[in-house]
Amino acid sequence: MPVLYRTCTAALFCALVATALAVDVSKLPPPAKMQGVTYAKDIRPILEAACFRCHGNIERPKAGLRLDSVEGVLKGSKEGQVVVPRNSEKSQLIISASRIDPETAMPPKPHSGAKGGAAGSRGASPNQAPGGQMDPPPKPLTAEQVSLLRAWIDQGAK
Ligand code: HEC
Repeated sequence: MPVLYRTCTAALFCALVATALAVDVSKLPPPAKMQGVTYAKDIRPILEAACFRCHGNIERPKAGLRLDSVEGVLKGSKEGQVVVPRNSEKSQLIISASRIDPETAMPPKPHSGAKGGAAGSRGASPNQAPGGQMDPPPKPLTAEQVSLLRAWIDQGAK
């Protein structure tokens, strides 16, 4: 019985870890064919538009993650690495930005339950009215942008 118990505990733990990691990466858009992708030239503008508001040069970057420099991206969040150079499939940044996993999709949805932000619901949300003068959240990345991010990481994240 104790053995069984331990097996179960281990299995449960593994299952939890697996849930956190088991994302169907076959759903990712393929890496772009473009060569010589660099942060400064190609990546920064994408992240600037969609991510800097929460992961830029602000007082408390979300999750301790700064995306406004290569160093910041490679340093990762308080949880650890978000980019694995040369392995975009294993990079949380890609999983999050591609939104293939609802749990970690970035930018986060403004209100839980308001699904379909990917369709570009700027200002179209019916529950945005009373007092909510906040800027609409940044638009999610397009598949092309995710492809470019993948190419950048797969080429070494320079
Ligand atoms: C509106 C604010 C906001 C925007 C915009 C935003 N994020 Fe986030 N991000 C968060 C918050 C809040 C967390 C903490 C996540 C959580 O635990 O839900 C987070 C966490 C993350 C993490 C996980 C860090 C970790 O290791 O746990 C990644 C990766 C990430 N964001 C990437 C991005 C990318 C890429 C973009 C742009 C495409 C983006 N974020 C845009 C608020 C934002």
